[in-house]
Amino acid sequence: MQEELDRSLNLFKKYFEEKAKKEATSDLQHDTETKETKFPKIQPIATQQVDIETMLRKRLIEEYREFAKLLAKEAPQDSDLVSYIEKVKAEKADQIQILTAADIPAISKLSTGSPNLDALVGGGLDPKSLTEIYGEPGTGKTQILFQIAVATTLTNHSAEVVFIDTEGTFHASRIKELAKRFSDDSSDFLQRIHYVKISDFQSQLAVVERLGELLTKQTSIQMVLIDSISALFRAALGLDSFIPLRQQLLNFHIYELKRLAYEFELAVVYSNQVYFGENETKDGWRVKPFGGNALGHGSTHRIFLEKGNDGYNYAYLISSPVYGNRKVRFNITSEAIL
Ligand code: GTP
Ligand code: MG
Repeated sequence: MQEELDRSLNLFKKYFEEKAKKEATSDLQHDTETKETKFPKIQPIATQQVDIETMLRKRLIEEYREFAKLLAKEAPQDSDLVSYIEKVKAEKADQIQILTAADIPAISKLSTGSPNLDALVGGGLDPKSLTEIYGEPGTGKTQILFQIAVATTLTNHSAEVVFIDTEGTFHASRIKELAKRFSDDSSDFLQRIHYVKISDFQSQLAVVERLGELLTKQTSIQMVLIDSISALFRAALGLDSFIPLRQQLLNFHIYELKRLAYEFELAVVYSNQVYFGENETKDGWRVKPFGGNALGHGSTHRIFLEKGNDGYNYAYLISSPVYGNRKVRFNITSEAIL
């Protein structure tokens, strides 16, 4: 069994390595000079091994053991694969529960600490879902995430939050400043904000695993904040030739976050960076969220932040399954984001 698993893992690994090498080489051949001048530090990553193996090993062993065994055969018969899928399907059919909408309990929403932003998302952030906040630099993504951490821990004195910082912009002093209007006690709630600093995308993928362990023990964690979901993937896998791999990894990451959100009734909120598209979106924006369909399909609610010419910041709810598109104004001051 171990041998077969190793074989199928090696197949996956080889596939990704060869793909990355091939694409990086063809990319260099096309545009060696500009790419090398433009991305001098990024080039070595073309040959750096992506730690896909650890991720796939766990997933294959836990979920696809039999399937991997079949795939590892020299020439797996389609009929073997189909009968395996049929077998699993029959087992899963027994586990499927069919409820009515009336059976689904309403879970309390969590406040952002800003009445305007709460109104944007129907009264607060939804547990069991992923909310994305994207916008240009300086539009308030980090500030909003800071305030969500504060509001969650200070409006419920047993609630805990995990803050994953991928951009190095977490400041406890700013958190304390934002906490003043909720409470004078600035010590207890800080203990309930768990902080994780990561600086490469492999660690970002790995963090979900650690979170799973933490969430089993610390059942009062209600919120996971990630600032930002995309920065590390963009930095390491920014070249066009890495797009398929990057999207696949982001897809995987979002899928895992969604699983955690659902299993542990968490609200997951992440910021996302943007780029300027050549064409306007159907809503008339050139600014587009990074991450294509992986994030487009993955995020439950998407919020776009924009700085208005009137000095206010605006937040737009874009493509939510629950609420129509709408817009609110908000303001960032030293005391609060309102
Ligand atoms: P990037 O991470 O660069 O993409 O930007 P962001 O969207 O995360 O912006 P961020 O939330 O860091 O900052 C938004 C704005 O909030 C800044 O331009 C400042 O005007 C304001 N701001 C940030 N920190 C403070 C603060 O401590 N006090 C006050 N009054 N305003 C702040
Ligand atoms: Mg930021």
